[in-house]
Amino acid sequence: MSERLEDIAAAIVADGKGLLAADESSGTIKKRFDVIGVESTADSRRDYREMMFRAREAMTRYISGVILYDETIRQKAADGTPLVDIIKAAGAIPGIKVDAGAKSLAGFPGDTVTEGLDGLRERLADYYKLGARFAKWRAVIDIDTGKGVPSANSISSNAHALARYAALCQEAGIVPIVEPEVLMDGAHDIDTCYAISKATLIKLYDELHAARVVLEGTILKPNMVLAGRKSGKVSSPEEVAEMTIKLFRETVPAAVPGIAFLSGGQEDEEATANLNAINAIGPHPWKLTFSYGRALQAAPQKAWSGKASNVAAGQAAFTHRAHMNHLAALGKWKASLEQAA
Ligand code: 13P
Repeated sequence: MSERLEDIAAAIVADGKGLLAADESSGTIKKRFDVIGVESTADSRRDYREMMFRAREAMTRYISGVILYDETIRQKAADGTPLVDIIKAAGAIPGIKVDAGAKSLAGFPGDTVTEGLDGLRERLADYYKLGARFAKWRAVIDIDTGKGVPSANSISSNAHALARYAALCQEAGIVPIVEPEVLMDGAHDIDTCYAISKATLIKLYDELHAARVVLEGTILKPNMVLAGRKSGKVSSPEEVAEMTIKLFRETVPAAVPGIAFLSGGQEDEEATANLNAINAIGPHPWKLTFSYGRALQAAPQKAWSGKASNVAAGQAAFTHRAHMNHLAALGKWKASLEQAA
C-alpha cells in the first residue's frame, strides 16, 4: 500500500468502509466488561479483540482500519500472531489512540483539555514501527450552558492541542484523526449542539491551518448534531442529517477527504439510521462514514459474554453491525434489513 498521507486517508474512507474504534483504555473496557460479567484481564481483552479482528467478512469488506490502544498494538493473538498482523492480513490499517485523556481545565470548572503532547514525537516513531499508519486524539467538549460550559478557553485549548498533535503525526508519516467530540449527554437542544459544534470546528480549522497541517492527509472524527440525551428528545434522522451537513458545509474545508463519525452513546440502530440519512442527502464534498466504538461493539460484546463457545455468535453480531454501517456509509441502509438479520 502506498504510504502517502493522502492515500492512507483515502483508504480509511474508501467507499462503504469505516473504522472500528477498539481503543478503549483499560479503565473503559473494564466498565464494558462489567456489564457482561467478564473480568477484564490482558488475556480477556486480547481474546475479545482477537474475536473481532478475525471476523473475516467484516474486516475485509466493511472495515478499513482499527483504532488500537497501546496495550493492543503490542499484543499477540492466542496462537502467537501479532494482532496488528491479523488486521493487516484482512487488508485493514492499524491505527493508535495517542492522547492521554481529557483532564480538568484549570480555572474552568466543568471544562476539560486533552493531554498527551509531551514525548508524542518519540511515541509516534515507536507506533509507526509497530505498524500504525493513522492515529487518534479525542478532545471532549461538554455542554452545560447555564454554567458557562464550554468556555471559549476550552474550545481554543483543545483545538490548539489537536493541531499540535496533527502536525506531529504528519511529520511521522501518520494520518491524524482529529476528534473534537461535543458530548451528547447534556439537556441541550439540537440548535445548541449545532452552535457549540460550529464554534468548535471553526476554531479547530483555524488552528490546523496555523500549524501547517495538510488537510488532505487528515480525517475528521466529529459528533453528529443532535439534541442532548437529558433533553428527553430524540432528533429524527432527517433532522440530524440536515443540521449536521449544514454545519459541515459551513466549517469543514472540501480539502478534507473524509469524516468518520463517533457514535457517542447513540443506540446501535440510531447511529446507523443517522449515518444513512446523512449520506442519503448527498452528494457531499467529503466521504462520510463511521468510526464507531460502542455502536459497533455493544452487540458483539453481549453475544460473546466472555465464552470461547460464543466466538462465532460474537463475530456474527459484529459482522451484522459492520454490514449495516457499510450500507449506511453508502446511503443504502433500510430499517427492514435489521429485522431480516
Ligand atoms: P464511540 O463510537 O463509542 O463514541 O467511540 C468512538 C471513539 O473512538 C471515541 O473516542
